[in-house]
Amino acid sequence: MTELQQNALCSIDSEATGYQEFQIGEIKFQRCEYFAYITCPTSQHMMPIDAFLTALMRDIAWGFFYGTVAFDDVFGTTNHYGNVDIFLGKFHDEWIKSEKVHIQNHESDELMDVFKAMQSDWTNAEFDPFAAPQETGKAWGRKNGDNEAAISRERETAQRMVGMPGDTPLRTDENGFPVNRAFLDVDQTEPVVDAQEGFENEIHAFNLFGYLSRSDVTWNPSIVSVLRQSLFCPTTEEYILPIEHGNDRPEWFLQLSDEIVWEIKDGTNGKATASVTMRPGDVATMPGDIRHQGFSPKRAMLIVWENGSPEIMEQIKNGTVNPLPVEF
Ligand code: PHB
Ligand code: FE
Repeated sequence: MTELQQNALCSIDSEATGYQEFQIGEIKFQRCEYFAYITCPTSQHMMPIDAFLTALMRDIAWGFFYGTVAFDDVFGTTNHYGNVDIFLGKFHDEWIKSEKVHIQNHESDELMDVFKAMQSDWTNAEFDPFAAPQETGKAWGRKNGDNEAAISRERETAQRMVGMPGDTPLRTDENGFPVNRAFLDVDQTEPVVDAQEGFENEIHAFNLFGYLSRSDVTWNPSIVSVLRQSLFCPTTEEYILPIEHGNDRPEWFLQLSDEIVWEIKDGTNGKATASVTMRPGDVATMPGDIRHQGFSPKRAMLIVWENGSPEIMEQIKNGTVNPLPVEF
């Protein structure tokens, strides 16, 4: 038996379930009808398959995101922008104490290829990993078709601002974005922009609430406006952010509607430190040395305000970034 097989908690009969196995370096991934199994030379870790696939979908869609994407308290990735760490137990006290932490580093493209192939093979026809739990079929069971349309959705990333000529279009009934059941009362009127001659390409406005009311995905920020390095990334949130985000720079949240509770943990050992309840009009910042996960009882609108500065990327790489957004 190989070391990987010896660590297995249970044997997975992939022939019976129909799912492929995947491997990168010394980490092997398998799924059964209910769980994903992640095996490395020191141990094996299990996750419910719906939690695994919704987290994997975010890691893929966001290109490994800023800093750490923790699928749960054991498994995740840390982005070094070009290459990426994939880890088990790195931020988990017991894994650290028992010297079981396993970390591999890979070229981002190499890991992305494996992640995409796994997402594609393990997502069944009726399951949409971007959808709210009430708006999707189940992830469970044996291999049953695929859902390429759902998992290959491109994140909307405006160059300047949504709705400008040649930029990301507004969402409408006609282009396949009906108003979500939770936002039927949102005013759909678009602002009238009357630009002075010669300024038609300089001034623009659109109804952000209307735009968000038509989002068909949850916990998937799209970039709606770019001003130099300032990225406005609004999103609609329902149920639980499928990952815990261990950000490597401060980011800001502006709550536009409803209510989200953020559970905050220490960035290095995962111990709970705070709980932040945000209501419409509230603004909060997440410093760069924590991890956070949002809980949204009703579909809510949120702006995530990100810092896309190339200088901060360099500071992160050489360890000089200030994790604090403000100092008093
Ligand atoms: C975050 O980690 O800050 C985050 C990610 C996705 C969301 C909202 C917030 O939809
Ligand atoms: Fe975050």
